[in-house]
Parts: sequence; C-alpha cells; structure tokens
Amino acid sequence: MHAKKFYLRSFGCQMNDYDTSRMADLLRERFGAEPVSTPEEADVVVLNTCSIREKAQEKVFSDLGRLREAKKSHPGQIIAVGGCVASQEGEGIVKRSPWVDVVFGPQTLHRLPDLMEARVRTGRPQVDVSFPELEKFDCLPKRQPEGAAAFLSIMEGCSKYCSYCVVPYTRGEEISRPMVDVLVEAVQLVDAGVKEITLLGQNVNAYRGQTPEGDTADFALLLEYLSEIEGLERIRYTTSHPREFTPRLIEAYARLPKLVNHVHLPVQAGSDRILAAMKRGYTALEYKSIIRRLRAVRPDISIATDFIVGFPGETEAEFEETLRLQEEVGFDASYSFIYSPRPGTPAARLPDPVSYSEKLERLQRLQSANDQCARAISESMLESVQRVLVVGPARRGEGLLSARTDNNRIVNFPGPLELVDRMVNVRITDVYPHTLGGVLVE
Ligand code: SAH
Ligand code: SF4
Ligand code: F3S
Repeated sequence: MHAKKFYLRSFGCQMNDYDTSRMADLLRERFGAEPVSTPEEADVVVLNTCSIREKAQEKVFSDLGRLREAKKSHPGQIIAVGGCVASQEGEGIVKRSPWVDVVFGPQTLHRLPDLMEARVRTGRPQVDVSFPELEKFDCLPKRQPEGAAAFLSIMEGCSKYCSYCVVPYTRGEEISRPMVDVLVEAVQLVDAGVKEITLLGQNVNAYRGQTPEGDTADFALLLEYLSEIEGLERIRYTTSHPREFTPRLIEAYARLPKLVNHVHLPVQAGSDRILAAMKRGYTALEYKSIIRRLRAVRPDISIATDFIVGFPGETEAEFEETLRLQEEVGFDASYSFIYSPRPGTPAARLPDPVSYSEKLERLQRLQSANDQCARAISESMLESVQRVLVVGPARRGEGLLSARTDNNRIVNFPGPLELVDRMVNVRITDVYPHTLGGVLVE
C-alpha cells in the first residue's frame, strides 16, 4: 500500500488535537509516512471531526466536497474521517460521500492503519465506530513529545448527559485509564524532557482509575502521585466538571505546588432554572462556593470557564444572571458560544422563542464583560514575578523569547535561546492587549 505522505486536519477540542497527534504517530510507525502541507500532495487525508455545534459539523461536509475534487487528480488516495461526526454518523458518511474510504471513531483510531489496508484489500469502504473500552491505549506507539509541554489523556467519554450535548453519544461513557498506566506515561514524558503535563479528559475530575491493589484512585490521588515525579514542574488539566470538584481536590491545591494557579471550570450559565434545564447538576451558588473554597487555599487562582448563551427559553433576566456571575467570579477567560441545537439531544426539542440576533447581542455583551475582566487581571499582574515556561523565540522582536504564565498569558522578554523549554522567573513590566512584556529575574 502506498501511504508515504499524510495530511491530517483536526477540528474541535484538545482531546481531538491529541487524538490527531496520535494518528500521526500511527501512520509514521506503520507506513513510515510523513506529513505534507496540502491534501493534494497526500496519499492519506484524515479529517478528525467535531460535532459539538452545527457549524463544526457542516464544515466537515463542505471539506469533504473539496476533497472529492482533489482526489480526482490523485487516484488511490485514501480519505479517512474520524472523530465525533464519524462516531455519530458512521455508515451515513460513506452513503452521503461515497469517495470516503475509511470511517473510524474516537475509540477506534488505533485501527486506522488496519482499516486503510482492509480498504485496499477488499476494494470496499471500511467503517468502524465501535467502542472497544481502552483498547486503543494498549495499541498506540510510544509518544515522541516535542518540547517541554505535553498532553496526557487520563479518561475518556462522558456520562453526564447534559441536555444540549452530543459528547456522551460520540465518545461513550466515562472510562478511566488505570493509574499505573497514566503514571508510567507521565514518567516517560518527563524522561523525554517534558516539564509541563496537561491531563486530558472530558471530565478529568471524574477520574476513577484502578490501582494495582484493585482499589479505585480518584483524581486528587492521581494528582498527588503525579506531583511526586521528579523533573515534572507543572501540572494542568482540562476540562473539569463542577459536580466532581470534591473537597479532596480543593485540598490538593493547598498541598501540591505543581498544580498551576489556574482552573478551567465550565459553568455554562448563571441562572438556576437554566442550569437545571441543562441538567448540569449544580446551582450558581454551589458553583460559587467551589470557587470561594478554592480561593481560600489559593487566593490568586485564575478561573476560566465556558458559557452557553441563548439556551432554549433563556429570558433576558436569566441571561443577566450569567452576566452577574461573570462579574462576581471575575472569570479570567471564557469560551462562550450561542446554543446550537444538536439532533438527538433532549434540548433540541424545547421551544426556543428568542431570535438569533438577540442571542448574538447577548453573546457580545458577555464577551465584552469578560474581556474587560481579563484586561484588569493582566493589569494586576504588572510588577509581579511569574514562573513561566519558555516556549520559543517570540514571533516578533529580535532577541525576544516567548513564555506562558500559569494563567495562559504570553510573556515576551529578552533572553538567550538556551532558555527555551526551561522554567524561568520573569517580572512583568508591560501589559498589551494580547500579551505581556517582562524581564528575567534571578
Ligand atoms: N465536559 C465539559 C465540556 C465539553 S464540551 C464540561 O461539561 O464542562 C465544550 C463546551 O462546548 C461546553 O462546555 C459547552 O460550553 C459547549 N457546548 C456543548 N454543547 C453545545 C451546544 N449544543 N451548543 C453550544 N455550545 C455547546
Ligand atoms: Fe457535554 Fe455535559 Fe459531558 Fe460536558 S459534562 S461533555 S457538556 S454532556
Ligand atoms: Fe467536538 Fe467531540 Fe471534542 S464533539 S468538542 S471533538 S469531544
């Protein structure tokens, strides 16, 4: 089979980006393949798709239309579709776009090379969107981290079934990797030069991993063990769920300095009626109580969140409760989107009288409130000393390096290239709209 050049495209969340990088590892290992920069040159084209909102899903089908043209000038090219749209549509993708050769899901991505070979052997498109639990982790090649920051997947799927969301259907129920597997992978990454690990999962704090003794380790315990790894300097994670934010996890922030001073904790809305209709399983007060207790142990911790604006039936007054929550918590960053009805989810059947233009206006008000808050937080960092991970030379500015703070700010400062991939202390001297400026301190 001829599969020397691949072109991968990733949509959606960090989980998908991670999966995409694992597909590249697979294609390298099996076929000695290398990436190319356009689909026209590639022997294998893979779209790793997302269906969280309608726009993301539509993108896939318009991309597939273009790929059909490219394939005409490249006979034998394999077009593969993975990710959440693949998981949901399965066979439907081949029916709708018969030039697609392979369809695979988030849990069968390790079978991609086999599916490609089966396609060539049988002459028929191959579809495998089954959910073989955790099998993929045993079948993936060893990681080759690039740089000092790496992702590490600890759990998969979601069992929360929020009324608007496709993830439980596309990724399956929550399932955690055994604790030792996670620790071994973390040690391998650190041995390869990694200093910062971001733990990945749809709800990382729903982690319930088996221990060698046959017990179950929770997320707080996993963090404790990871913290013991020498050479690992920073631990991040995404995404966590308020319902699983236990007192033990809050306590971990008091004890484990390697945990970054930043949490991404999606709240979605500020109105209790909307939160209940979303089936989130907490009230605004309960959410604020988590934040208050976190700040009791980490006073300057930065909180990022996700919002959905314009959930079916959301009134102006209910939206204002979301705005108020933004003010009260002082979110440092937020990912906010207009509600997008997803076929097959309960919320898609709810009456939705609010117009799109009104929802758009609400979104803009919320985003501008969040921008103001983020700006104020940046200002408050002025003159502070931040421990940062140097990621590389700055994109602009001779002799400048670029680094990342705990709360995901980019800091540019003068320094030698030897500092790349190291942790250093920087004093913040300037605040710009999208970056900070600083100087090295001893
Ligand atoms: N498991 C995480 C979120 C994963 S999905 C959590 O619940 O905290 C990422 C974000 O996409 C969600 O937080 C939500 O804000 C957004 N999202 C999910 N479904 C959506 C929909 N139907 N319309 C608009 N935004 C949606
Ligand atoms: Fe979707 Fe809710 Fe699960 Fe998050 S917790 S992935 S929003 S169902
Ligand atoms: Fe999208 Fe699937 Fe992630 S729907 S956001 S790629 S879990």
